[in-house]
Amino acid sequence: MGESRPTSAFHSDNMDASHTDRLIEALDTQAASAGVRRLRDWGHQGLAAQPGERALDIGSGTGSEIRALAAAVTSSGYAVGVEPNPGLRETARQRAADAGSVARFVGGDALALPVDDADIDVVWCERVFQHLAESDRAAEEIARVLRPGGRVALLDTDWATTILYPGEPEVVAVLTGGALSAAANPHAGRKLVGQLAAAGLEIDDLGSQALIQDPGKVTWPLVRMLGEKAVQSALITEQQRDRLYADLTAAAERGGLHMSVTMFGVIARKPR
Ligand SMILES: C[S@@+](CC[C@H](N)C(=O)[O-])C[C@H]1O[C@@H](n2cnc3c(N)ncnc32)[C@H](O)[C@@H]1O
Repeated sequence: MGESRPTSAFHSDNMDASHTDRLIEALDTQAASAGVRRLRDWGHQGLAAQPGERALDIGSGTGSEIRALAAAVTSSGYAVGVEPNPGLRETARQRAADAGSVARFVGGDALALPVDDADIDVVWCERVFQHLAESDRAAEEIARVLRPGGRVALLDTDWATTILYPGEPEVVAVLTGGALSAAANPHAGRKLVGQLAAAGLEIDDLGSQALIQDPGKVTWPLVRMLGEKAVQSALITEQQRDRLYADLTAAAERGGLHMSVTMFGVIARKPR
């Protein structure tokens, strides 16, 4: 929720070409949001990629963050995005070419990265773990590919932090519960630090940002998707749904709507 589209749009099994345009539009909307921009800035500052270093972005989407890392490591370094979705990979390639970036993109999976052991200086991995039922293994993969002293920025949403206000609390709880069920690993954000520690990495810093919607605008595609699902599952009545929609509309008209979800980030390093 928050400034995001439904997470189901990003599931790795959701890869046919007809989804690509919707995925790209959603990722671009999120990239423009203040919360994502601030957390990304924090992540890049923490990683502090240097000229000549080797950088990897796991689940690189449209390639925005590996382009940023490519600029930092310069042409003396190496910057590769691993992205299983061919449509996103092609868009990322095109955008990198248009921007004159040396970033490259390859297919691959977070659970089996196409990279040798201890080959990478800096890893970026943003909003991928929420899609992975076996995210512990992805943390182990990150530890495997990092060289001793190498750093990772691991960022993800925790869907249990979704807030929707106003509305009848029990109706709101059903809708925010629906947001939880849209991701394979909806509590990804709170697990990141423990997963990196369990993989043997040292934690350097922790960060977070709430992604807050425009208080004057209801994000109807998301709210309707959750509302209709709740009615179809007989968790709320049509009347409760309609009252919620009216409450949200009225709140937005007076600039008092609150919709948010919180993202968390961890900067960690592999011991020397
Ligand atoms: C919400 S998008 C985030 C994209 C990008 N990291 C960003 O923050 O803009 C989730 C990304 O994870 C990728 N993804 C899903 N399953 C994956 C997996 N098993 N291994 C690697 N990437 C995966 C998707 O294709 C998509 O690019």
